[in-house]
Amino acid sequence: MSNSINKLITIERHIAENEAVYNEATGEFSRLLRDLTLAMRVISREVRRAGLNDILGETEKENVHGEQVKKLDEFAHNIVRRAMNHGGHLCAMASEEADGIIPIPDVYECGKYVLLFDPLDGSSNIEVNVSIGTIFSVYQRIDADATTPGKMNDLLQPGFKQVAAGYCLYGSCTNLVYTTGAGVNIFTFDPTLGEFFLTKENHRMPEFSPQYSINEGYYNRWDESIRKFVNYAKSEDDNKSAYGLRYIGTAVADIHRILLHGGLFLYPADTKNPEGKLRLLYELNPLGMLVEQAGGLATDGSQRILEIQPETIHQRRPVFMGSKDNVNEVLKFLS
Ligand code: AHG
Ligand code: MN
Ligand code: MN
Repeated sequence: MSNSINKLITIERHIAENEAVYNEATGEFSRLLRDLTLAMRVISREVRRAGLNDILGETEKENVHGEQVKKLDEFAHNIVRRAMNHGGHLCAMASEEADGIIPIPDVYECGKYVLLFDPLDGSSNIEVNVSIGTIFSVYQRIDADATTPGKMNDLLQPGFKQVAAGYCLYGSCTNLVYTTGAGVNIFTFDPTLGEFFLTKENHRMPEFSPQYSINEGYYNRWDESIRKFVNYAKSEDDNKSAYGLRYIGTAVADIHRILLHGGLFLYPADTKNPEGKLRLLYELNPLGMLVEQAGGLATDGSQRILEIQPETIHQRRPVFMGSKDNVNEVLKFLS
């Protein structure tokens, strides 16, 4: 742990103290982040009681991706929406669990930011007590002075324009990890106090680790270059040991492990998912910004994730992200 272990500081205090550094100090951005942490607190509470509060299981609905919506997905989506739509800091939202733009209701003011989020990442793990998380991404709207409702082009910005990104991971403890473009900070939730405390400031990830993370069950659906890389990862000789394989199946949990311990996360294109599976706006851009801010790399194999110009809010993309040297290594197989 870094020097920050000595400093007893809550996330609200941290946001307020840092606001002047990265914003023109209107307070709007701080309020936005504070409202988001409220949503995370509520979702965390509900996740912790998931087996007790009739919230496990599926709804009757399918989402825009054709996946069965779990009750907890829908619950988390509505908590974020309700925490964020009335603060006056957003002009539009988009969520993995909603078809189009989520407008700000007419009765509330529109502000200069947009929010994109994956309310619960790792749905397939909800019922088996494995880590799940909420991922978020914040941009300034294109015309920062406008007070009108946000439009689609405000949501379709490349990831390098994010002004904040982060996630809340509901694991063996609850961690909130965020960046505003000035390093990665990690907070841990104390459920008895209802507060997130800073536990790691300006976190840097290892430059290399002999670990990879991929759903290897799809081996026969991959391009030859991915198979060659995975064969290499498993190979052993006098100069190299086999890499360890870790795959949780919750992208945010796999990336959290890689942020802390290093390694490579892959979700390549395959014959069933020609664009990969993960969503550019709700998963790859925010996770990519965090990984880059911690010293790592995020690419789709030919382009930096954060430079992709999105065309639709729900689009998917192949991804290779993690420690710098791990990403450069897999890129040699892809070229
Ligand atoms: P979500 O639950 O938000 O739909 O995302 C699930 C994603 C991601 O978290 C994970 O990395 C991936 O699905 C796992 O997919 P496979 O089951 O195909 O490995
Ligand atoms: Mn997801
Ligand atoms: Mn989701």
